[in-house]
Amino acid sequence: MTGDGVGRAPLVTLRPASVSDLVTLGDIEQRCMGPDAWSREALAAELGAETSAAETSAAETRAAETRAAETGAAETGADEGGVRPTRYAVVAERPGGVVVGYAVLLAVATTADVLRVAVDPAHRGRGVGRALLADLLAEASRRGCDAALLEVGVPNSAATAMYRAAGFTEIGRRPRYYAGGTDASVMRLPL
Ligand SMILES: CC(C)(COP(=O)(O)OP(=O)(O)OC[C@H]1O[C@@H](n2cnc3c(N)ncnc32)[C@H](O)[C@@H]1OP(=O)(O)O)[C@@H](O)C(=O)NCCC(=O)NCCS
Repeated sequence: MTGDGVGRAPLVTLRPASVSDLVTLGDIEQRCMGPDAWSREALAAELGAETSAAETSAAETRAAETRAAETGAAETGADEGGVRPTRYAVVAERPGGVVVGYAVLLAVATTADVLRVAVDPAHRGRGVGRALLADLLAEASRRGCDAALLEVGVPNSAATAMYRAAGFTEIGRRPRYYAGGTDASVMRLPL
């Protein structure tokens, strides 16, 4: 799949993330998320979950599980007799194979959580984030999810605008959700 550069930049190619992307994604994670960045171990768990067992590793996952409990949905990380990956992780590559962004989805029962959309600062404003988000939402639909949820920092105007442009609307707030005490806006999109 290719992202829509809308004439502003070369197209990016989207492909599933793998453990070989760990170092690059860890660097982008640090540059994008600051004090809220996933540790290398947490990121490894997200990518490992894509190809093997589903693991819980991050605050976002705990929030998703809380929501699942609130809505009566069961955590179904593993099907009987086999592993059912609950994560989907995708990277965006420029021509030449340079990874410039990535995104992670958690699908639990019929609800999908957008855990991450991150684009390296040097490559923003060219449609990469929009392409990554669209890919996550398409995957959520393929998995039979009927809604997508996410948290975004209230002051994070770029991400909030991106999510609103995709159709997400705010359904609540989580006070002091992020490091440093920043509130999160909880947003939802029916699929
Ligand atoms: C949010 C983020 C992923 C956007 O990535 P991007 O590649 O620059 O976004 P795009 O170029 O695809 O823009 C998509 C839409 O986002 C919004 N947007 C992006 N940058 C914006 C900015 N600086 N100000 C306002 N809106 C902005 C716009 O609605 C834009 O659509 P438009 O170009 O038609 O106006 C990027 O800024 C980022 O990685 N931020 C840090 C990580 C983060 O906060 N992630 C979200 C929470 S996990």
